Amino acid sequence: MSHESARYEFKDKAADYAELARELQSLLSGETDLIANAANATSLIYHALPDLNWCGVYLLKAGELVVGPFQGKPACVRIALGKGVCGTAAAERKTIVVPDVHAFPGHIACDAASRSEIVIPLIARGDLFGVLDLDSPKLARFDEADRRGLEQLAAILASA
Ligand code: SME
Repeated sequence: MSHESARYEFKDKAADYAELARELQSLLSGETDLIANAANATSLIYHALPDLNWCGVYLLKAGELVVGPFQGKPACVRIALGKGVCGTAAAERKTIVVPDVHAFPGHIACDAASRSEIVIPLIARGDLFGVLDLDSPKLARFDEADRRGLEQLAAILASA
């Protein structure tokens, strides 16, 4: 299978996220394997969105988050619930947008280039099974439109 990704400029974020959501839906359709779907979803997002240096998932295993498929530099493997941005988003089951990672108490630095971050919990049938984590080398890279768009993409991955 070859996948020719659409080109996104993200000038109209709502429209581009809607198009990216359709692309993700079609990319994951007919496949239920979580690792395969997380790998393709994080690759699609990493290559579609400008100004990212990391995009990946952490999966909940035996009560802690363990790194799963990602794009970017090697990352810390295990994160306890409640720790860092990922562990906090997982424990609170809500999206966390961090405009400046240096100002987030307990932020876990994996790539020194990261300046801002967004973490979206992955929830299927009421159960948290991981988080989707995006890092950017730009300060305040993620706004409200990114939060809405990325929550939509996370929901597609969660329901696949
Ligand atoms: N910064 C995250 C750790 C994961 S890396 O960004 C890939 C955190 O504080 O949870």
